[in-house]
Amino acid sequence: MTRTARPRRFLMCRPTHFEVSYAINPWMDPAKPVDTDLAVVQWERLHDLYVELGHRVDLIDPLPGLPDMVYAANGATVVDGKVLGARFRNAERAAEGPAYLEWFRARGFTAHDPLHVNEGEGDLLLTGRHLLAGRGFRSESAGHAEAQEFLGRPVIGLDLVDPRFYHLDTALGVLDADQIVYYPGAFSAGSRAVLRRLFPDAVRVEEEDAEAFGLNLMSDGLNVVLPEAATGVAARLRERGFRPVGMDLSELLKGGGSVKCCTLEIREAV
Ligand code: ARG
Repeated sequence: MTRTARPRRFLMCRPTHFEVSYAINPWMDPAKPVDTDLAVVQWERLHDLYVELGHRVDLIDPLPGLPDMVYAANGATVVDGKVLGARFRNAERAAEGPAYLEWFRARGFTAHDPLHVNEGEGDLLLTGRHLLAGRGFRSESAGHAEAQEFLGRPVIGLDLVDPRFYHLDTALGVLDADQIVYYPGAFSAGSRAVLRRLFPDAVRVEEEDAEAFGLNLMSDGLNVVLPEAATGVAARLRERGFRPVGMDLSELLKGGGSVKCCTLEIREAV
């Protein structure tokens, strides 16, 4: 099968103020040192790769005191030019929601201030037909309903059960309109059955692939950017005709995020 890349528009946030000063997921350990300069270098390589691949990358100014703001995927969900703002579960990240919303409003986007918890594209992943929506650790079902109502896309709620994979984008990656890759062990039995029914042909990977953050990827339909340690995922994607590109984001992994977490997709109205 011949695969084709479609140029995308992304929003990213330089990790100028990145550190691990609190722990809100099992990957974060404030006692472990973080090299912020190295985080910036690694992030810049990801940014430059997107540009080389032909994507447009916009930047939002990082704010002091918001070390997790680098994980732009959590900042909003943008579909058809409509921006669903994020509302974070943890107080440490609460101010990121309005900061991202303001960025979009200042650029003329229609934006909705959410009433219920949703952590942006961390838990809301768009496919051709559905908005796949994670819950269990961060986003809540009422936030899914709000997303469906505002964005007008059918939401499929998926229950996450393993705290290491606390956001949907740590357990599942969207490869193109109707193809996904996921780690079944991160989901409840019912949600695994739902995924099998919707995506009988999906790529299913092992625990070690998920642990390497191999599902935290950004695909343009051909090129799939993912952590370089996730060699198992890369091999499986190559078999399916994708072109995996490995990146080293070791410092950002200390906050519990990788490629996808650093990338918010701006889907404009067509
Ligand atoms: N430290 C951040 C948190 O726990 C990491 C977020 C990662 N982002 C993502 N899209 N999974 O909220």
